[in-house]
Amino acid sequence: MKICVLPGDGIGPEITAEAVRVLKALGLKMEMEEGLIGGCAVDAAGTPYPEATQKLAREADAVLLGAVGGPKWDSQPRELRPERGLLGIRKDLNLFANLRPAILYPELANASTLKPEVVAGLDILIVRELTGDIYFGQPRGVREENGERVGFNTMVYSESEIRRIGRVAFEAARKRDKRLCSVDKMNVLECTQLWRDIMIDLAKDYPDVELSHMLVDNAAMQLVKAPKQFDVMVTGNMFGDILSDEASMLTGSIGMLPSASLDDKQKGLYEPSHGSAPDIAGKGVANPLATILSAAMMLRYTFGLEEQAVRIENAVKKVLAQGFRTGDIYEPGTNRVGTKQMGDAVLAAL
Ligand code: IPM
Ligand code: MG
Repeated sequence: MKICVLPGDGIGPEITAEAVRVLKALGLKMEMEEGLIGGCAVDAAGTPYPEATQKLAREADAVLLGAVGGPKWDSQPRELRPERGLLGIRKDLNLFANLRPAILYPELANASTLKPEVVAGLDILIVRELTGDIYFGQPRGVREENGERVGFNTMVYSESEIRRIGRVAFEAARKRDKRLCSVDKMNVLECTQLWRDIMIDLAKDYPDVELSHMLVDNAAMQLVKAPKQFDVMVTGNMFGDILSDEASMLTGSIGMLPSASLDDKQKGLYEPSHGSAPDIAGKGVANPLATILSAAMMLRYTFGLEEQAVRIENAVKKVLAQGFRTGDIYEPGTNRVGTKQMGDAVLAAL
């Protein structure tokens, strides 16, 4: 088991360190090597996804990533922004399937801004296409036209790209409540009419899964109105970016949510759904649980170690039940701890 660890920027190094401790505590035979990505890579190597990191990532079975970005690099030209490192590694490793679960832990029900009865028991999986769409479409840029600047990007999906993410979503639904909602904007965008047509076609291979369709604006509304109607949602790169942030905040705590980005084999990149939180970086107060849960997803999806994955997930549930809380999920009456103490608690629970 070869794992490439890319702590990144902001709180990335702190939270990744805790996930690494948890992985090591399992006593499995694994090799870990660290590399640079994002802003720290720009500083050290002049590029957000340096060649040494590419090599490490390509040779590893799985990548554990913290977070990238921060105000320090905001004024950089586009190709030197930390985000470019993240987009670069996703494309480079062909990580087209992004799985973002949004689960409400009963102990954290009060953390949501929605009424408890609306979110109690929430368990949604968003399957987001990650290497296509307007994120990567050509042509793109800003050009001069009739004496003014015109900005343009291209939303584009090939049939094969839609089909492969569709299959991942149908398979995921099959292992859950067997309901899949495909999100598009077919009333306006041809590209997403094709998306819908292909999903309908794919459904023939999955008669046990109930497929529905929703326009993205309605999906955004339904997510706050009645989120429990959803089991698995599948959508393109940009709609998925937006809807997954929305879904994560239904749980009140983006600091709890892991993610997996997979290729068509077993390789995956595992990272928390949240960002680099520069405002609290280096203070030892960040919530490491999303990263620890991402490590659990790694054991499940890349290494097929379901039992070990569940062990970690149960340890996380246990520390919540014991009352341990980092600042982002703290409420009066619970035990406020820092990043490292939270890691200690998970290790003890393991
Ligand atoms: C995400 C992030 C990234 C994205 C950014 C940092 C490039 O928002 O993983 O959701 O837009 O995909
Ligand atoms: Mg996002």
